[in-house]
Amino acid sequence: MSDKQKFYITTPIYYVNARPHIGHAYTTIVCDAVARRQRMLGKDTFFLTGTDEHGVKIERSATAQGIKPKQLADEVAASFRALWDRMGISYDDFIRTTEERHKRGVQELWKVLKKNGYIYKGSYTGQYCVFDELYVDAAGPGAPCPECGRPTETVSEENYYFKLSAFEDKLLKYYNEHPEFIRPETRRNEVISFVRAGLRDLSISRSTFSWGVPVPGDPKHVMYVWLDALSNYITAIGYGGDKKEQERYAHYWPADVQMIGKEIVRFHCIYWPAFLMAAGLPLPRGIVAHGWLLFEESKMSKSRGNIVRAETILEVLGNDALRYFLMREVVFGGDGSFSFDALVTRYNADLANDLGNLASRTLTMIAKYFRGEIPYPSAAVGRSAADEAIATLGTEVIAGFGAQFDDFQFSRALETAWSLIAAVNKYLVENEPWTLGEKQDQESRARLGTILYTAAEALRIVTALAHPVLPESTARIWRQLGLGDIKKMNPAKLKWGELKIGVKLGTVEPVFPRADKSAIERMQKMEEQRSLAHKEAEKEKTSPQPAGAGAQPGQPATQSATGPAPAAPAPTGAAPAAGDAKISIDDFAKVEMRVGQVKFAEKVKGADKLLRLEVDIGTEVRQVVAGIAKAYDPEKLIGRKVVLVVNLAPRKLRGLESNGMIVAASFGEEGTPVLASFLEDVPVGSRLK
Ligand code: MSP
Repeated sequence: MSDKQKFYITTPIYYVNARPHIGHAYTTIVCDAVARRQRMLGKDTFFLTGTDEHGVKIERSATAQGIKPKQLADEVAASFRALWDRMGISYDDFIRTTEERHKRGVQELWKVLKKNGYIYKGSYTGQYCVFDELYVDAAGPGAPCPECGRPTETVSEENYYFKLSAFEDKLLKYYNEHPEFIRPETRRNEVISFVRAGLRDLSISRSTFSWGVPVPGDPKHVMYVWLDALSNYITAIGYGGDKKEQERYAHYWPADVQMIGKEIVRFHCIYWPAFLMAAGLPLPRGIVAHGWLLFEESKMSKSRGNIVRAETILEVLGNDALRYFLMREVVFGGDGSFSFDALVTRYNADLANDLGNLASRTLTMIAKYFRGEIPYPSAAVGRSAADEAIATLGTEVIAGFGAQFDDFQFSRALETAWSLIAAVNKYLVENEPWTLGEKQDQESRARLGTILYTAAEALRIVTALAHPVLPESTARIWRQLGLGDIKKMNPAKLKWGELKIGVKLGTVEPVFPRADKSAIERMQKMEEQRSLAHKEAEKEKTSPQPAGAGAQPGQPATQSATGPAPAAPAPTGAAPAAGDAKISIDDFAKVEMRVGQVKFAEKVKGADKLLRLEVDIGTEVRQVVAGIAKAYDPEKLIGRKVVLVVNLAPRKLRGLESNGMIVAASFGEEGTPVLASFLEDVPVGSRLK
């Protein structure tokens, strides 16, 4: 093990039910930048990322695609890894929770928790949110999840429990004594109030599905996916392994920074430290939560369908453009919006114009006027107060950038570095080295040397500081400055005035070509095509046979609508015969169907088939009267997602106005309705096309 001071940083491990988008890339990029700076500072840095592959959510996603969970996990884990490789993410290890080393470690942890008396058997009947993999103890049947609003499922099982309640006081004491444990402050306060409100014991096993790590000694149960997932941070570095692996664990643990998105604060700041305390293991030094990347005003996520893939941006603007945008534009800790417009504007302004211009002007003039060698800044002749001002600012920027970056204020740190670029670009305009370059007198040459040395030195400073954020382009500028391998540069030793005179420049070439307006359109088009191609591929996976080929005679193959129509019985749903009149896509487009969520349901007095429902369709809550009372209990419908035809003219039924029609299949002689629903979660208001 190295003698250098260690630095261990982790990303959350990403679920394999969705391919990576720039929301995932955001966390990974931030960790990568921090890891790169720590390596430059000389620390023995270990950067871990990986994938979270167990649990009912993954199992269902795989079933929906007609494949085995392991196949889904293999495919998606590979796509995460491939993207991180393409983006040059400097991870040291990639853990998958389906790996043997992980299973072995998490089973070991279980045994220790059990031995220490923190695991007992009990039974649980309550609500569970599959999307968040969260037990929602306080809620009643069908109640929405307090985190994501999706309907919870009732689970009733004999389970193993973790004595979380035993850690209430210990956790509060720990938060109090270690104010830097949870950052930022707002998240820390939320966690403290949550714990103060009281902690209940936590169910940590499931027996109704098998896609997980078996509980030691009782393999009918698999471990609760969050206990499984959180343990990756120690199993990856050797916990539960052989002697050598355990030494590695002891060297790197506790982690210095565990970076997460704000939605998983509770798991990391309450459950995780409680598990560690119970096992007698040290707690991580800091859990740092960032906000969400929003696109079209809501959190970018697969279920909302508002995703942007990193690949599109990499292809058009390159890796560094995406990194810079995310770290500069988003104020770390808060939510930040992504748009192609803002990306291109920021790229052109800060990279092509500010940094790009400073580099190309300065280096081209040194090549032209000083045969490509860093000139001498005259100490006596031709100096001005402006040179000193830049030198002073340079020194301030080095200190300011380091302090802000290490305090996770990435956007401010970059702003600080760019203040030096702006000052030097202004200094160049005011001092006109290009005019001096045409003169041959000694004083003009001395002045020119000072100006270009000052500009090149500022360029060196900014390039060194920005390297963790812009690894590719700064490495190129560094080589153009004739300085060799930028990774060998230690920002803690960076000082104004240490650029060596006479150093020969490398080949000077532009680093950030300007992006024109068409870049935005190109990226938008590529995104559309990508998502279309993906949808097609998914469709193929779920329907290996041509549409209709699997239908048996007499089996329902079409959906009919169960609406406000007890008077007009629902069609029985026989498949249309070949040659039936076809409608055009335009005809179909006239029917506006949206996903709604039932907020309220009751029987209509005096009508045994009718229910009165209040359905949220995202923009409003609609009253709908539906002929489904014989098939559905009103209480069971609350919270359920349904498909609603929203542009039907309103009708009155039993004196009640019905504003829409609920879509259902209908079968048998009685036309029994079965509500149309989705295997995957879909946000309220989504349109069916
Ligand atoms: N598997 C769990 C984490 C287990 S860690 C022991 C999980 N996975 S996830 O795939 O949903 O990804 C979570 C992380 O991805 C978030 O915490 C965040 O870091 C990142 N992001 C995913 N979407 C994001 C945005 N739209 N914006 C910012 N970060 C996002 O939760």
